[in-house]
Amino acid sequence: MRESEEQFYEVPCGKCKIDGRDKIVPGDGVPGRAMFVGMCPGEEEAKEGKPFVGKSGRYLRKIISEVGFKGSDCYFTNVVKCRLIEGKNKNRAPTLDDMKFCGAFVQQEIREKNPSIIILLGDPPLKYFLNKSPVAKYRGMLFKNKGRTFFVAHHPAYLVRLKLDHKEHILFKQDMARAYKVLYGIKDEKVGVEKVLCDTHEKVLDALDTLEGRKFVCDIETDAPGKVKERKALDPWAPGFKITLMGFATRIEDGAIKAFSIPLEHKESPLNFEETFSVLQKFFEIGRAHV
Ligand code: URA
Repeated sequence: MRESEEQFYEVPCGKCKIDGRDKIVPGDGVPGRAMFVGMCPGEEEAKEGKPFVGKSGRYLRKIISEVGFKGSDCYFTNVVKCRLIEGKNKNRAPTLDDMKFCGAFVQQEIREKNPSIIILLGDPPLKYFLNKSPVAKYRGMLFKNKGRTFFVAHHPAYLVRLKLDHKEHILFKQDMARAYKVLYGIKDEKVGVEKVLCDTHEKVLDALDTLEGRKFVCDIETDAPGKVKERKALDPWAPGFKITLMGFATRIEDGAIKAFSIPLEHKESPLNFEETFSVLQKFFEIGRAHV
């Protein structure tokens, strides 16, 4: 530890009025890349003297390693360096006053460790650094402030309280993957789109086969005689109303998108009336399976 850090982490530092301090928990990890900033240590952290080693810390470390972060990319710390308790032995989140009191340490840490990205975990660090709240509104977002790059994410303690199949777990992992890409300046790859004009009956059947069992999006183009302004094309009961084209897009195995255009009651349609009818019927069957 450098001399300046020794002064900071002298136990007890005696700068605030927190009771029941076990241990001051300094930041830990490798400087220069990603700094993960939580609110304050929990019980296990206070016992071990290391940040993010309890249940939520293990969750965080697992997810970030799954999206590519190496140990050498990460530095972990908290805005408040001591565990905060209420009642008998219950963790409590820091107030803005607690953070203002202790925040000089994390500010100093940022200057010394010079991270490329600071990942704010949960509401308290978000409020402290960017004066924003709630985290649910800002998660996944990137902010530049005073020459630093901040990325906002939920606190892992929030996620460990949710059911395993809750969609927030997926979103959290996506957020961490984004933070990793920001750290390494990785641009999102453009997803390839394969466009298929179904101008033969075989291609139409192939399109319907591809859609079967997959989620897809659909766009239906319609027309009707009469003036455009009368919007007859939007009225299926208008005389002469027809479905001119159906467009579908779905993701295929490698993540690429396949988009089909099927001309129906249109001069380019490969289908006769009965075939058009059976294609529509099949389409509604496939669609119903997803409802
Ligand atoms: N929660 C935090 O905010 N920090 C830790 O170090 C552990 C849990």
